[in-house]
Amino acid sequence: MVTERLSSLERKVTTLRLQEMKTAGEKIACLTAYDFLTARLLDRAGIDVVLVGDSASMVFAGNDTTLPMKMDEMLYHVKVVSKAVKRALLLVDMPFMSYHTGADDALRNAGRLMQDGMAEAVKLEGGTTICPIVKRIVEAGIPVMGHIGLQPQSIHAYGTYKTRGTEVAEAKRIFEDAKALEEAGAFAVLIEKVPKALAKRIAETLSVPVIGIGAGAGCDGQILVTPDMLGLTTQFSPRFVRKYARLAEAMTEAFKRYCDDVRGTTFPNESECY
Ligand code: KIV
Repeated sequence: MVTERLSSLERKVTTLRLQEMKTAGEKIACLTAYDFLTARLLDRAGIDVVLVGDSASMVFAGNDTTLPMKMDEMLYHVKVVSKAVKRALLLVDMPFMSYHTGADDALRNAGRLMQDGMAEAVKLEGGTTICPIVKRIVEAGIPVMGHIGLQPQSIHAYGTYKTRGTEVAEAKRIFEDAKALEEAGAFAVLIEKVPKALAKRIAETLSVPVIGIGAGAGCDGQILVTPDMLGLTTQFSPRFVRKYARLAEAMTEAFKRYCDDVRGTTFPNESECY
């Protein structure tokens, strides 16, 4: 009997698979999605993790921060994305205030994202202080990714989106946060906008995968916000975002051509009519 072995591009990505990838030194590619069509393209392109990020608040809903995102809105996004994602691990952000009011609320909301939203794992911002909540969710069988370094839900406390952990005391706190999350049972840690040496040290210390955004090449994997890397976001452009397309220009050009065609009566033509 011939046993067919699935290639790594065919195998369903699970938290176990991500752990194997870390152990084997294979880098983990992650991107965000908020809608069905983008999620389907990402999954077909072989992305390992699709994050339904609360960045949707900014790049989808047009808010200035991630704070206005509500549970019901997150549920809507993860439900539509889940219809498209077959191979990648489907990860969802727990929105601001959905886990800060205690472990019971956090578990209930994580449960809704898994049960009604069909997510496969949840992500929470915070380190040592949220570990009791992480433990509670993990004990219910829900995989948790921690999010440390720059935590966008704390933007009003910071007052700035500057790099975190550039000073020794904060770098030490971030390092301790990473270890505490692993200890609390997190299957992975995302680290945002910190010096590359700090992220590398954390990735080398932790046995779970460390995913970086603006944290250098020493992480076990990378994530970007998809509209940023596609060149759709025009309001800001941090230097860690590599642009893989110029969709803002391409779309604007297409919209202008359509307007010209309608106004010039060249659209529709005979073959585009019944
Ligand atoms: O919400 C989001 O998109 C994130 C990014 C850091 C990837 O958490």
